[in-house]
This record gives sequence, C-alpha cells and structure tokens, in this order.
Amino acid sequence: MLILGIETSCDETAAAVVEDGRKVLSSIVHSQIKDHQEWGGVIPELASRLHIQQITRIIDKALEEASSSLSKDISIEDIDAIAVSNRPGLVGSLLVGVNAAKTLAWMHNKPLIATNHLHGHVCANFIDSDLEAPFICLLASGGHTQIIKVTDYADMEILGETIDDAAGEAFDKVARLFELPYPGGPHLDKLAQQVTDKKKFSFTIPKVKGYDFSFSGLKTAVLRLKEKLSEEEWFAEKANIAYAFQDCVAKTFYKKILVAVENEGLDQIVLAGGVAANSGVRGLFKENFPEENLVFPSLRFCTDNAAMIASAGYFLAKDKDLSKLSLEELDCEVASRTSTLV
Ligand code: KG4
Ligand code: ZN
Repeated sequence: MLILGIETSCDETAAAVVEDGRKVLSSIVHSQIKDHQEWGGVIPELASRLHIQQITRIIDKALEEASSSLSKDISIEDIDAIAVSNRPGLVGSLLVGVNAAKTLAWMHNKPLIATNHLHGHVCANFIDSDLEAPFICLLASGGHTQIIKVTDYADMEILGETIDDAAGEAFDKVARLFELPYPGGPHLDKLAQQVTDKKKFSFTIPKVKGYDFSFSGLKTAVLRLKEKLSEEEWFAEKANIAYAFQDCVAKTFYKKILVAVENEGLDQIVLAGGVAANSGVRGLFKENFPEENLVFPSLRFCTDNAAMIASAGYFLAKDKDLSKLSLEELDCEVASRTSTLV
C-alpha cells in the first residue's frame, strides 16, 4: 500500500511517500528554521503562511522523488491513501496540511487518514526496520516528553510525561543561555561534544514521582550557575556546562526507562522525537542497554518529517476498510494528558 504523508504541525512543511509503513520512497522536508531564527522561536502566524507557500511544491516533489525511487511515474492516482498530521500542533499550521490533504482526497477520491503527530514519531521506528510491538518508547520532542507502552502498531498507553517543560523545550531554553541559535538542541549537542572535563559540573537529576518528568528546575539550575559565574568563567566553561546539562537529561531518561521496562516486563526500548537525535542520550542508552534491545530512528526521522506520518497512517488503516475513511474516522490516542491543542 502506497501512502502519501503530509506534515505541517510546526515549522516543517513535509511530504513523503511510504510503502507498507516501512519503506520510504521519498521524504521531502522544507524547514522554516531560518525564517523564525531571528525571533528566537517559532512565530505561529508566520509558520502557517510559509506552509501555504510551500505545501503544493513539497507534495509534488515527494511524488517526483517516489517516481525516481521506483523508476516509474507515480502520480497521486497511484497513491492508495493520504495520511495527514491532524493533531497536536500549531492550529494554523495543522490547518494548511489538513486542507491540502482534504482537497487532494476529495479531488482524487482517495481515503484520508487522520494521524496523530506523536503516533508518527513512534512509527518513525518502523521505517527501515523490522521492529514489532510490544516495547517501551521514550518520546522526547520540542512539545512533549512521554514514556509510552506500545502494545500494537496503533495501540499505546502513556505511562508518564513531563509536568512542565518538554525535554526539547528545555534544550532550546538552555541553549539560549549559551546564545546558540534556535532551535538550540542540536547546537547544544555539538557544544557538549567539545567537553574537556566531564566531572567539572553536575546537575541533580530531577526527582519526580512515577514515570513523570520535570525539566524546569534543571533549566533554572543552569541559569543560577550562569548568574554565579563571571562572564569569562561562563564563556570558558560553556562546553563543560552544556555537557553536564545534557548528561543530566540523558540520565533522567535512563533512570525512568529502566524502571518502566522492569515494571512492565518488556525489554525492547525505542526512542523517538527530536531529542532522540541527541548524541548524549543515544550514547548513554547504547552503553547501558543491550544493542539488540534498542531501536532508534535514523537521525532524519527523529525530527519532524512526513514519512513517519505516512507510516503511522498505514498502521492505523491497514486492517480497516479504506473506502470508509474520513478525517474524523481514525487517529491514535497518543496526545498529552495536558495537551490543549486541536
Ligand atoms: O520532534 P521535533 O522535530 O518537533 C516536535 O514535534 O517538537 O523536535 C524538535 C526538538 C527541538 O526542541 C530541538 O531542539 C530538539 O528536538 N532537538 C535536539 C536535537 N535535535 C533536535 N535536542 C537535543 N539534541 C539534538 N541533537
Ligand atoms: Zn514532532
């Protein structure tokens, strides 16, 4: 089954064609980072306008690239269904993708699959792999941090989540203290790799009950340290401090996941979301869990993309009657307990 995935939940306009949920024929991502960078974060109204400018071109490009992958012409007529990120995200941005998907589905009489963006992040792990549920997934992105028990392709239970900042948000806010550009996560990751003394600084692992997380205290601890040090000291120790922050986030994840796999009796561990691209997090998990029990998406499928949405759409719809699907029909319940979007 060929699915066209469409993703516009935040600041990436993306489209992809994926075969049977696992084989990516094309994945086109147009990032708006440069347009938002001067403001230090995503401006929702600007994001929606930029999605409108790009969406048709990106969908066309995804079909074109899928044609090259298969060495035959793939048009929208060859697509079996269209999957679109339906929630959560910036409402104006989501609307652009959803309207594009609805229009194409209506014009070409194609089934439309409403897909949860977070389900998409989990499904990024099915791409180019033979992963099967059950597993424990740590989903850490710019807007969410969750531990999810995945019992089937589209059957999942949130065991815990952040009670304040998402992990990616904490990375971005702390990166700002280092005057790194938005989004700060990948820049902070690079800075931390320049560490010269791993033991010089350390931050206390936040103590939060059960499987929930809190990163706002850790973010404040870095700010307090900055206030305490002289400008020269802060500058000279930047890499060591960035390392200590990143190490604390990675250890927080590790501790919670360890308890989750033990309590749930599951040994497969899967990472997802933008923060799953972090070298410190990946490194700590690789050091502490057997290789055969660990699955990470490739770096390009950690951050927002439409291949993961096409994959999620496939797994949501594969046993359903496609002809009956409409936007209201499907969607996997992986939204945050505290999410207020859409
Ligand atoms: O999953 P994602 O692309 O978008 C959301 O759904 O939010 O995640 C974006 C987040 C940003 O906060 C970004 O700074 C963070 O993921 N991120 C990273 C890294 N790459 C992206 N954080 C830490 N280390 C990285 N290498
Ligand atoms: Zn995302």
